[in-house]
Amino acid sequence: MLIKWIHKDGRESLTAAAIGDSLLEVAHQHGIELEGACEGVCACSTCHVILEKGVYDALPEPTEEEEDMLDRAFGLTATSRLGCQVKLQQQHDILVVKLPKATRNFYVVSDCPSNNENLLFNEFDAGWTHTETTLIILIFVVNYKWTG
Ligand code: FES
Repeated sequence: MLIKWIHKDGRESLTAAAIGDSLLEVAHQHGIELEGACEGVCACSTCHVILEKGVYDALPEPTEEEEDMLDRAFGLTATSRLGCQVKLQQQHDILVVKLPKATRNFYVVSDCPSNNENLLFNEFDAGWTHTETTLIILIFVVNYKWTG
C-alpha cells in the first residue's frame, strides 16, 4: 500500500508500506521527518500524526497510555494518533498521514524522580520567531507549574 505524507510545510510525498509496519517504522524507513524520541515505547508525543477520519475510525482505539501522551501533543486533533502505536492492519489504496506543524517532547527519563526537571523539551519548530517561541515556552512552564 501507499502512504501519502503531508509534511509540515504542506509538501506531499508517497512511500510504500507493508501490513504489520507501524507508521513510525514506515516514516523512518523512508526518511520522513517523524521523530520518535522514545523509540516507539509510548513515552513521548514526537511521533504525533493526524489521520483521515475514515482511517482513524477503522483502527483499534488508542490505549490509555497513548491517550495520555497524545494529551501532551502539539496541535492535537480529533483524529490524532501516535505513529508508533498505529500498526497497518488492512489494505488501503492510499493512506493519508498529516504531520503536525510542530512536536513537543515530554519524554520522561525513567530513572529521574517525577518533577519538572525530568521533562525534556527538545523540539518546538513551527516556524515562529524566537520571541514567539520564548513566550509560548514561558506560558507553558507557568501553566505546567500551576497545574502540576
Ligand atoms: S515514539 Fe515516543 S510515543 Fe511514539
